[in-house]
Amino acid sequence: MAENTSTTVLSEAYGHIRNHEFDAAGDTLRHEGLKKVVEAGMYIAGSKKLGRLAIDRLAGNEVGEEILRTNVAGIDMDGPVGIAAGWDKTGKTVLAWQAAGARHMTIGGIPYFGQAGGRMPRLRTMDQRIGDHGKAISLNSFSFWSPGSDAVVHNIQEQQDAGDVTIPIIPQVTLNKEFYAENDLGLIGKLVGMTVKKVLPVASAISLGLTSPNTKGMREAQDAGDRFMLAVVAPAREAVDRSGYDVPIIYKGDGDGGEAQLEMYCKWIEYHAGMIDAFELINTTSLSHIKAKYGAENLPGGLAGADKEYQELALSAVKYVYEAVGNKIDIIGTGGCDSGVQALKFIENGGSAVGINTGIRKLGISGPRTIERELAMLVAARHPEASSLDEVIGAATKRGPKSQNLPARHPLGRQ
Ligand SMILES: Cc1cc2nc3c(=O)[nH]c(=O)nc-3n(C[C@H](O)[C@H](O)[C@H](O)COP(=O)(O)O)c2cc1C
Repeated sequence: MAENTSTTVLSEAYGHIRNHEFDAAGDTLRHEGLKKVVEAGMYIAGSKKLGRLAIDRLAGNEVGEEILRTNVAGIDMDGPVGIAAGWDKTGKTVLAWQAAGARHMTIGGIPYFGQAGGRMPRLRTMDQRIGDHGKAISLNSFSFWSPGSDAVVHNIQEQQDAGDVTIPIIPQVTLNKEFYAENDLGLIGKLVGMTVKKVLPVASAISLGLTSPNTKGMREAQDAGDRFMLAVVAPAREAVDRSGYDVPIIYKGDGDGGEAQLEMYCKWIEYHAGMIDAFELINTTSLSHIKAKYGAENLPGGLAGADKEYQELALSAVKYVYEAVGNKIDIIGTGGCDSGVQALKFIENGGSAVGINTGIRKLGISGPRTIERELAMLVAARHPEASSLDEVIGAATKRGPKSQNLPARHPLGRQ
């Protein structure tokens, strides 16, 4: 069943060179190659006390402002800024990112079985046009490359067993691509339930990552709307409830479907109270007019990062959902967050926390603390009266701040 997941950057690049695809070889080495090297370094440094101390120093001073403490679906966080899905797909760099100041970390997506993912190059970065190798925008078509749930759980567990993991870990469950080809909602649900069960022992919360544009049929399956969500969320909920683990479920949504889709998400929350505890909004975009700005309209993959229109898409999705159901669930805002300014916008529009991915390329390992530091200053300047982040979350929306809209089932202090 499991595919060969050990295709290496070097073997893929060599294959391109043999076919005289020199740009593709260069892109493979420059992007995924560099990412692998950085990840290996972080894993090695993160696994030793001295290495973690070095990361801590390199990442700049700890921010630790009391006012930035937050809570997502009952999970306490020392600050709102964490690592979004897709940065660490194997779960090996939890301790390293924790040392660098990340306040939460989503690992994955994790399919039940290991799978090879898309062909390399499957990660490109640019500032303006494809090929310029800037850092602000990313285009990824990883298609859920993963060593599989057993390996990822093992990697996370190893760090938890050492007793040093203190940040919330959010494994993101997804599906092996074959199960979309079958287009069988019953089968999809079963596999989601099985994978949730697998990752629960290492999870502070579960993310459901079923809105990638890179797995054939995955976004299309959402056309079934309410039916699709129920088919994937119900088995996940059942797996959690039966397990005895008290962990919330976060649904990763996408912003490409516009208001109609956001409305569906909100209605879903109204009809199926208690099934999910938070949304993370948004995933990468496959909107071709945004990709076209970078010459990427004919390339596979979802675009993310500091494109103004994409950032706006993410912010307006968070605001829309918060205004509709911000008294029932929490939201993690993700999409083009690379500064304290952008993080504050997410929070003022209803995000209880923020996730970063592409921004790490620009900011490096000091990314979480750099954003958190700027955010602390901005909160102090713009919300001098606030005594907790709940008074800032949603402050720029019609619904008003979270402090007046705390979700009813918000068990305090779950970690
Ligand atoms: C290389 C890469 C891999 C990603 N993989 C996943 C994934 O496995 N699951 C998921 O839900 N989102 C994934 N994403 C989307 C991010 O989690 C995030 O929603 C998106 O990139 C927007 O954030 P950003 O602008 O900070 O990159 C990935 C993004 C990138 C750039």
